Amino acid sequence: EDTSELVSAVLRWYAAHARDLPWRHPGPPDEIAWPVLVSEVMLQQTPVARVEPAWRAWLERWPSPAALAADGPGEAVRAWGRLGYPRRALRLHAAAVAVVERHGGRVPSDQAELRALPGVGAYTAAAVGAFAFGQRVAVVDTNVRRVLARAVQGRAEPAPALTAAETALAASVLPQAPPGDPRLPARWSVAVMELGALVCTARAPRCGACPVADLCAWQRAGAPPDDGPARRG
Ligand code: ADE
Repeated sequence: EDTSELVSAVLRWYAAHARDLPWRHPGPPDEIAWPVLVSEVMLQQTPVARVEPAWRAWLERWPSPAALAADGPGEAVRAWGRLGYPRRALRLHAAAVAVVERHGGRVPSDQAELRALPGVGAYTAAAVGAFAFGQRVAVVDTNVRRVLARAVQGRAEPAPALTAAETALAASVLPQAPPGDPRLPARWSVAVMELGALVCTARAPRCGACPVADLCAWQRAGAPPDDGPARRG
């Protein structure tokens, strides 16, 4: 299936409608990799509005992995505050220690090295690779899965757990970088994530405001409800 029209429509929409979130600001990979990693760990289970001030305070106090590693894990847990799931603070501290010990204090760009860090799974490694280092790697979170389930597969909701078929689909939709725009694949990933967060939402999707409503397989099928056995919500 040719998804190039879907990709360009989502990219155009993102250019006009994206939220200005501080961890998306561009910069040299070595400078933004740590802020991006911190943001992605915080965003794993906490909404953007609560992450933003905590992320700023965290990076003011610990602007590098070495700074965090020099403090104790208890300090990290205390600073985590009310973000929830405080084991993430311990893992982020352990990741900072590992970055210092194994990588000279620089967050690695290699996907396998990233995944070897405490608390960094496939999603977070891909997000750091794409958003900090500009790599062409599919970033598949729940928002991306929902957009692809609807727009490409014509389903109301993705399966409860990530399947190999979905990973393959996300990889097949991931555009190539055209000459002169090496970060386009990463921009697609954040754009489709943003569409899922703002328009193609789990409940009450705003299809009237969707840039790909006319390309959407779910819309074409009449937006049937989820008929899966694992219906949630
Ligand atoms: N931008 C980059 N990654 C993000 C995430 N996980 N949630 C919201 N915005 C993001």
